[in-house]
Amino acid sequence: MLLESKLLHKPVMVEEVIKLMDVKPGGFYLDCTLGGGGHSLAILKHSSPNGYLVGIDRDPIAISEAENVLSEYKGRFTLILGNFANLSELISKTGIERFDGILFDLGISSIQLENSERGFSFSNDGPLDMRMDPDISLTAHQVINTFSLEELESIFRNLGEEPFAHKIADAIVAYRKKKEISSTKELAEIISSVVKRRGKIHPATRAFMALRIYINDELGNLKKALIQALSLLKSKGRLCVISYHSLEDRIVKNFFRESRERIITKSVIKPSREEILNNRRARSARLRGLEKL
Ligand SMILES: C[S@@+](CC[C@H](N)C(=O)[O-])C[C@H]1O[C@@H](n2cnc3c(N)ncnc32)[C@H](O)[C@@H]1O
Repeated sequence: MLLESKLLHKPVMVEEVIKLMDVKPGGFYLDCTLGGGGHSLAILKHSSPNGYLVGIDRDPIAISEAENVLSEYKGRFTLILGNFANLSELISKTGIERFDGILFDLGISSIQLENSERGFSFSNDGPLDMRMDPDISLTAHQVINTFSLEELESIFRNLGEEPFAHKIADAIVAYRKKKEISSTKELAEIISSVVKRRGKIHPATRAFMALRIYINDELGNLKKALIQALSLLKSKGRLCVISYHSLEDRIVKNFFRESRERIITKSVIKPSREEILNNRRARSARLRGLEKL
């Protein structure tokens, strides 16, 4: 049996998610962000012996990793490669009409972040890529080397809430006049040359996050998916969303409020201090849930 400790991506707030989704034997569950399969593994375990899970990810590597992680529950799950922006269409192929619980654990996984070839990380040098899905045509390389100063500034400011957006865009444009910018380390160094470190946070953190959000249209996909997810829930079914930055969390919060369903997280759920100590990535996680009337 595969131990949870062997997971390549440490799932965040697993116990909180299982409780909030009210996972039960025999239920039907949908994990819209499979990643390394950690949450799905817990859902299958807690819905044993006969619960069923559908898992979606737009990254083919995530699908094969999750397939491996979930193998002990073979026969109780279906995995689908696709963008959750097309949720209804993806689910129509499964023959399942409604779910008891739906989960979104947004952003990228450690598997994606730590693979330097994917170009998500400034700590490991790699090509400027940042596509979650290899079929996306736009890469970070194109954005960084061809977008205008104003376009770059707007990405850093609006998607990264980066106060030094103008300075960073300016430095990129000046640098690329001399040389194409081709690696994540190179970009991180350009940013570090104009922005001072703020506490423990690397100066390139916000700009890298903004680029990733832009290339993968993360906010647009989330808005499209939430409304479809709500219509795929049974009455009393629960929708749970973990977000990692304020722009995402705001979309979720406003959607929940406007949906007029029952919000089951009066205040947002945050990870325990112990979890944050064991998994730094958890520090910015925020969990919200609603129950369909
Ligand atoms: C934070 S990870 C999920 C980790 C997972 N809960 C686990 O326990 O391992 C987010 C995953 O969502 C996927 N993802 C992000 N946006 C997506 C989208 N629009 N459609 C489908 N999958 C998406 C990413 O490729 C990534 O694998």
